[in-house]
Amino acid sequence: MIKRFFSSTAAVPEASQVPRHIAIIMDGNGRWAKKRLMPRVAGHAQGVERVRDMVQACIERGVEHLTLFAFSSENWRRPQDEVNRLMELFVMALEREVGKMHQNGVRLKVVGDLSRFDARLRELIATGEATTEGNERLTLTVCANYGGRWDILNAVNTWRKAHPDSQELSEDALAGYLSMPYAPEPDLFIRTGGEKRISNFLLWQLAYTELYFTDTLWPDFDAQALDTAIASYQKRERRFGRTSEQLQES
Ligand code: FPP
Repeated sequence: MIKRFFSSTAAVPEASQVPRHIAIIMDGNGRWAKKRLMPRVAGHAQGVERVRDMVQACIERGVEHLTLFAFSSENWRRPQDEVNRLMELFVMALEREVGKMHQNGVRLKVVGDLSRFDARLRELIATGEATTEGNERLTLTVCANYGGRWDILNAVNTWRKAHPDSQELSEDALAGYLSMPYAPEPDLFIRTGGEKRISNFLLWQLAYTELYFTDTLWPDFDAQALDTAIASYQKRERRFGRTSEQLQES
């Protein structure tokens, strides 16, 4: 059965010192490589190494959900060679890492429109998800061929097919059809690489998420950088629409 969480707009979620759910746009791989006169894909390869470190760092800090934007619906617009190499990297990462993830209690989820990926990649994703399904230490969600607008539209269309006679869709009903009904909404969003944009990431789910932007390029984003982001989160006053005074009274 799918575990459902309250929506931040429907109810005030419980506060926690360590973010339960961190969502990251891993930007800056290309620039990292360019600075070293290396091909862009070398930056992506280094980026995969950081993914491994970040999973470990999140486990150590008690974070329950880590969600990574690995490939957006718009990334197909990149040069074909770069897209191909990224796909090869995903395949390699899945082949190499799923066993280790399983040993470490990591549950893998991959969300997005997977129909455009080739059969080998889809098979590795299905096997990786099935192998790690029962793990509870950390859920790693990789967003691949994902877009926030795609997610919302897909949820609406799937709901409509399931309820052909219903006229009105409620927030709660929609939430169950989005691609991560098993996760609470992210507490902390991190974007590396200096840009200050959401770039069609989790548009619905980020409604009350604390946003953190850093110039650090993803291949340089280490556990210490994660701690700086978490420290910034811990200083924020999460009001969810209430006043500061109300928070002090409670
Ligand atoms: C953005 O950097 C990064 C990407 C589009 C790809 C991110 C993918 C990885 C780090 C691999 C993840 C793998 C797994 C298995 C989760 P950019 O290329 O836009 O950098 P730039 O802005 O410096 O050009």
